[in-house]
Amino acid sequence: MELTVIEAEKLKKKPDESKLGFGALFTDYMFNMDYAPDKGWHSARIEPYAPLALDPSTMFLHYAQGAFEGLKAYRTESGNIQLFRPQENFARLNRSCRRLCIPEIDAAFALEALKQLLKMEKGWVPSEPETSLYIRPTMIATDPYLGVRASHTYRFYIILSPVGAYYPEGFNPVKILVTHDYVRAVRGGVGEAKTPGNYAASILAGEKAHEAGYTQVLWLDGVERKYVEEVGSMNIFFVIDDQIVTPELNGSILPGITRDSVIKLAKHWKDSVAERKISIDELMQAHASGKLKEVFGAGTAAVISPVGEIKYGDQVITISGGKVGPVAQKYYKAITDIQYGKGEDPLGWIVQVV
Ligand SMILES: Cc1ncc(COP(=O)(O)O)c(C=O)c1O
Repeated sequence: MELTVIEAEKLKKKPDESKLGFGALFTDYMFNMDYAPDKGWHSARIEPYAPLALDPSTMFLHYAQGAFEGLKAYRTESGNIQLFRPQENFARLNRSCRRLCIPEIDAAFALEALKQLLKMEKGWVPSEPETSLYIRPTMIATDPYLGVRASHTYRFYIILSPVGAYYPEGFNPVKILVTHDYVRAVRGGVGEAKTPGNYAASILAGEKAHEAGYTQVLWLDGVERKYVEEVGSMNIFFVIDDQIVTPELNGSILPGITRDSVIKLAKHWKDSVAERKISIDELMQAHASGKLKEVFGAGTAAVISPVGEIKYGDQVITISGGKVGPVAQKYYKAITDIQYGKGEDPLGWIVQVV
């Protein structure tokens, strides 16, 4: 497919890199492509970043038939721009599309279009430590129609946002609250797809956790409310005895690329790692017997997020003395060193852009 470029008349002023937050600033250009049943995916173009004009009846706005992704472009010390396992994000987007009855995109073409967009926007990739350019590929159903069915037309776009260090005060452990009243997703639902409804479903529990002084919610499974699934919008890991353990993928857990990277690196280094069901009772018992050494979240935004405290009902447990444990530290350093080109890339995960 051909990729057209429409030049902007005026470019924006670049932000102060020391004051970048998350997801509020956007670059000069975006990628757009449309789908119609008679044309398939067509009109691929890079054009100035601009609001979308949508009919108020647009199906996505009513029924959330859509999907999205989140990945980052990193600037290395020598000034190159690189991506971390981007093929995995486009493969997951296509899996989300299949679940949401959306026509799949050509993943190889989407990656080439993203690389071209990044080449044009390379001046927006920040260079301060731990900053990056966040990439949000987004898919929406665009039929103007109020009946519930699969849309016939779609828009796929990619926008870019320079983002700051995830931990302004350093790599500090967070406090998390186990929620019994709400679930994020259920098996057979859309939990393993990266689709907007899952995030809408998570907001109330997140707000309640914040009101109670906790940073994130620890989600239990939606069927028995017994097995641990995810933390906030990250996958979760435990170090029990000397084994790294994470819940097995079961249909309601998002298959995170950071999760997969931790597992693959652990296998590469011959660290003991297991994917299995872990009940909240098992965790509490492991803590009581001194076997629960570390807990951490894993996701693109924070990479590794250590957990220092868990509240479950009336019980409050402190993990690793409220400090960052050695396993979280090791994996955080290894993955960020690969992403920023500071260390070896033993599994060939980096894709160079420029
Ligand atoms: C619900 C949820 N779980 C886990 C993750 C972690 O996935 P990844 O490591 O691919 O960013 C994310 C973020 O994308 C998420 O939204």
